[in-house]
Amino acid sequence: MALIGNILAIAKGGAGIVRDGDRTVFVPGVVAGETVEYSVSGRLRSAWQGKLLRVLQASPQRSEPPCPHYGDCGGCNLQHMSYGEQLRSKAGILAENLRRIAGFEPASPTATLPSPDARYRCKAEFQVRGGACGFFARDSRRIVAISGCLLLPQAVESHFLSQRRQAAGCAQGRILTVSNGRDLASCLEVPGGGGQWLSREHEVRFQVGPYAFLVAPGNFVQANRFQLRSMLGLLEGVLDRERPETAADLFCGGGFLTLPLAARCQRVLAVESDPGNVAALRANLALNRAGHVGVVQADAFRAGLPGTGFFVVDPPRGGLSPRLIAALAASGARTVVYFSCDSATFARDLRLFLGHGFKLDELKLLDNFPHSDHFEIFSVLKRAAR
Ligand SMILES: C[S@@+](CC[C@H](N)C(=O)[O-])C[C@H]1O[C@@H](n2cnc3c(N)ncnc32)[C@H](O)[C@@H]1O
Repeated sequence: MALIGNILAIAKGGAGIVRDGDRTVFVPGVVAGETVEYSVSGRLRSAWQGKLLRVLQASPQRSEPPCPHYGDCGGCNLQHMSYGEQLRSKAGILAENLRRIAGFEPASPTATLPSPDARYRCKAEFQVRGGACGFFARDSRRIVAISGCLLLPQAVESHFLSQRRQAAGCAQGRILTVSNGRDLASCLEVPGGGGQWLSREHEVRFQVGPYAFLVAPGNFVQANRFQLRSMLGLLEGVLDRERPETAADLFCGGGFLTLPLAARCQRVLAVESDPGNVAALRANLALNRAGHVGVVQADAFRAGLPGTGFFVVDPPRGGLSPRLIAALAASGARTVVYFSCDSATFARDLRLFLGHGFKLDELKLLDNFPHSDHFEIFSVLKRAAR
C-alpha cells in the first residue's frame, strides 16, 4: 500500500524517519524535509522498513548522485544529498543519539570538521567471488563489479582496474589496499591464508606533521587521509593544555595516536590485541624514536590498567564496556580522550562515564566518511581529582 509522509530527520544507517500513526518507518534514499510516497516492506528487528516509491516534494538539498553504482553498491548511502546536507544529517544523528541514549543535551551545536568529499579513503577492501570483483551490494554478498569509485585515491582506482583481471581466476578472496594518495600497497588474500602481493611495496609511509608511520594493507589505519592531521591536532591540543607526564593509549592500532603522546609524555603504555597491528606499532615507535613507550599485546577489555590520569581510547564500533569504564573510573583517570566511530555506542558509554562523575568537556564531529552516514567523534571526558 502506498503511503504519504514527511521526512522528519535522517537516522543512523542513512534512512529517513517517517511517522505513520504510532509507528516509525525508516525509508532510505530521502532527504530531511521531503514529502514522499513510500510503502512498508517489513520489519527488521523492531524497526519498520520502508521503500521509497516517489518523491512528491523534493528538498532543495537533493542532488544527483555522482556515482553510477549508487543505490546498488553497499558503500555509500548519502550521495543523493548535497555535502552540506550530509553534514547536517550527521549532526542530527549525533544529537539525537546523545539525547535518546545518553540523556545528554549539548549546550551548543557540535562543531563539525568537514573533509574533501572525494578520493579520501586510505584503505579499500575489494571482494572477489567466482571471478567477479568489486564491492558487496547493500545488505548482500552479491558483488557489484564497479567501474570506479570516487572515494578512492586515483592511484587505488587505477590499480584496482588494472589488477581485477588478476583476481578473476580466484573463486573467493579479497584485495586489500592502503594508500597515502600517492604510494600504494596491495595484496590478494584468499581463505586459508594464501594469496599474493599485487604491488611492489608491502607497506606505505604516511607523514602527518612531525610523525611518520608505516601501514601494510592488513593493518588498521584511520579511513580518511585528509583528516589525519586534524585528528592529531585535536589530541595535541588536549595534551598541550594538560601536560600529563604519563599516558595510556588503549586500542592503539599501529600507534597513530600513540605518537603525539610519546612526543609529550615521559612514559606511555600502548595496548593493542591484533598481532599485525602490534608489529606495526613496534616498527612505528622505532621509526619515531619513541623507545619509552611500553607495548602490551592484550585484550584491552581485560588487561589491567596502568596508574595514569590520562587515557586515550579508540575502540572498534562496539565501543567500550561497563566493566572497562568502571575500571577507568576506579583507576583514577582524570582525562579520557575518547575517539569513536559509532554514535550509538558512544552515547551508551557517555551515559556510564557521566554516571561515574565525568563531564563532557569537548565534543567534535569529524566527517571522516563523506557520502556515507558514518562519522568519527572526538570527545574529552574529564573528572575532578578525588
Ligand atoms: C578504531 S581502531 C583504532 C586504532 C588507532 N587508535 C589508530 O588511530 O590508528 C581500533 C583498534 O582496536 C584494536 N582492538 C580491537 N579489539 C581490541 C581489544 N579487545 N583489545 C585491544 N585492541 C583491540 C583493533 O585491532 C584496532 O587496531
